[in-house]
Amino acid sequence: MPLKTKLTDMLGIEHPLLLAPMGMVSGGALAASVTRAGGFGLIGAGYGDPAWIEREFGAAGNTPVGIGFITWSLAKQPQLLDMALARKPRTVMLSFGDAAPFAKKVKDAGALLICQVQNVKDAKTVAALGADIVVAQGTEAGGHGAGRATFTLVPAIADAVKVPVVAAGGIADGRGMAAALMLGAAGVLVGTRFSASQESLTHPNLKRKIVESDGDSTTRTKVFDTVRGYTWPHPYDGRAIRNAFLERWHGNDSGLQAAMETEGPRYKDAAAQGDTNTMVMFAGENIDLIHDLPPAAEIVARITKEAETLLSRPPGFR
Ligand SMILES: Cc1cc2nc3c(=O)[nH]c(=O)nc-3n(C[C@H](O)[C@H](O)[C@H](O)COP(=O)(O)O)c2cc1C
Repeated sequence: MPLKTKLTDMLGIEHPLLLAPMGMVSGGALAASVTRAGGFGLIGAGYGDPAWIEREFGAAGNTPVGIGFITWSLAKQPQLLDMALARKPRTVMLSFGDAAPFAKKVKDAGALLICQVQNVKDAKTVAALGADIVVAQGTEAGGHGAGRATFTLVPAIADAVKVPVVAAGGIADGRGMAAALMLGAAGVLVGTRFSASQESLTHPNLKRKIVESDGDSTTRTKVFDTVRGYTWPHPYDGRAIRNAFLERWHGNDSGLQAAMETEGPRYKDAAAQGDTNTMVMFAGENIDLIHDLPPAAEIVARITKEAETLLSRPPGFR
């Protein structure tokens, strides 16, 4: 029996599972695969390259998808929202920054507004702005985030807002999905597990690293933002797999800033070549649970089937 929740009703989908809009990783092909498999896919606009966004909407074809923006970055080029809304996305997700300047425009265009937050205060703020869905993102998550753990954040936000809450951070299998639903979520938003899928735009060397590494080897850091020249606002940093570059500069941001003349170009070259000793490898704590690189549809089927089984017969009560 498929799991029916407020989220599946709202989006008209079969499974309460969303693809995270991972910047430059969740392209149109991956988003469309997740939607076709019964979940819902969001393209990750990241820092906002208009040509890339157009191309990836094209790659999704006629399959309904959404799009996600990094809000503080969107504020620097707000015209990207108009461009995206012209493609009639079913949902627009805003993460990391003030959603207020964009909320009305998204809703007036007929798209559902999804806001990703990391604490209860921000959940209440985005609900008051008219968010249709609130994503509660725990610090286990791959990529950018902040703050507290999924296990306590999800029920706290589910108690604090009336709209459906979606859990993000650490979910890679049916156990995580079942747990999130038990904690009061109406669905899950999954990133890292889909980064390790056939359709993702993740570099093949990083896909291999995700499969080979465990959660102990990830940490939250600002190193890769500094070296790439992105000024993220407080309190955000990003969870990535540790490598030699991270070990060299983690905790020494001022040293890295001072060395940018040499480290900047060196990083750029190495990252372009897929050098895993240097390039950023965003991934969540849940990589212990990732052992293969299947098509996205198989990931959707595995996670949802396992969750359905667990929720119909919880293992602790056998
Ligand atoms: C490689 C990668 C890139 C990400 N980029 C973005 C992004 O551009 N915008 C965003 O809202 N979230 C981004 N995230 C965070 C996701 O939205 C989501 O919160 C996270 O992936 C959930 O945790 P999980 O990775 O444990 O599934 C990214 C995550 C990863 C792993």
